[in-house]
Amino acid sequence: MTNLILLGPPGAGKGTQARLLAETRGLTQLSTGDMLREARASGSAMGRKVAEVMDRGDLVTDDIVIGLIEERLAAPNGKGFIFDGFPRTLAQADALGALLDRLGLTLDAVIEMRVEDEALVRRISGRFSCGTCGEVYHDRTRPTRRPGVCDVCGSTDLRRRPDDNPEALRNRLLEYYKKTSPLIGYYHAKGKLASVDGLAGIEEVAAAIARILDRA
Ligand code: AP5
Repeated sequence: MTNLILLGPPGAGKGTQARLLAETRGLTQLSTGDMLREARASGSAMGRKVAEVMDRGDLVTDDIVIGLIEERLAAPNGKGFIFDGFPRTLAQADALGALLDRLGLTLDAVIEMRVEDEALVRRISGRFSCGTCGEVYHDRTRPTRRPGVCDVCGSTDLRRRPDDNPEALRNRLLEYYKKTSPLIGYYHAKGKLASVDGLAGIEEVAAAIARILDRA
């Protein structure tokens, strides 16, 4: 069983790599961003509550995201979990540690994906994804093979995220540096941290992550 955290700023490629790892290793991707977007789309009370916060690029409160992860971890998975976009604060990291302990699970690796701000802006401004299966694309670096049609499921419902605009992105980056980047030191002190160059191509980043997991 392998449990890992993908840690990095918005646009670092966490979702892209998590989906590849789910495919190649059978791990379960737990993306709090995706869960919150699903809650929004469902129109639930929680979804309505978080919509504005997400659109501004602020972090949703710890209790909400910890609750979402707690629910998903309760469903057993033999192969392991990829935490994508969680934890994002020290309180979330402590809560995850306590949850894993309670379930008798271990955290095998925390992989920091390093990407400079200029590249993040380029990535986020070109991103779109499939509204049906969630596959993530980029206008320049990962276009669909047929324009307007998802490679994976053939859907034509391709969308851009409301928080992928310059103002919200500035705020998301600020939130990352203020509240999430302290987790780099936190996991380094626990001996769990490894880093990859997230500026490399998608396949190269995947290979670097695979090397880390194979020796974890
Ligand atoms: P979330 O959905 O987690 O967004 P994020 O962290 O801002 O990360 P992104 O999804 O933008 O980027 P990514 O790293 O997954 O990059 P991707 O693979 O798509 O969170 C959204 C919001 O929800 C938050 O702002 C907050 O409000 C709330 N939230 C979520 N979790 C929370 C938590 N734990 N606590 C509190 N609030 C929470 O790649 C980006 C683009 O680059 C794509 O187009 C892709 O094709 C391309 N790309 C990827 N890798 C490469 C590469 N190696 N080379 C070239 N292009 C690449």
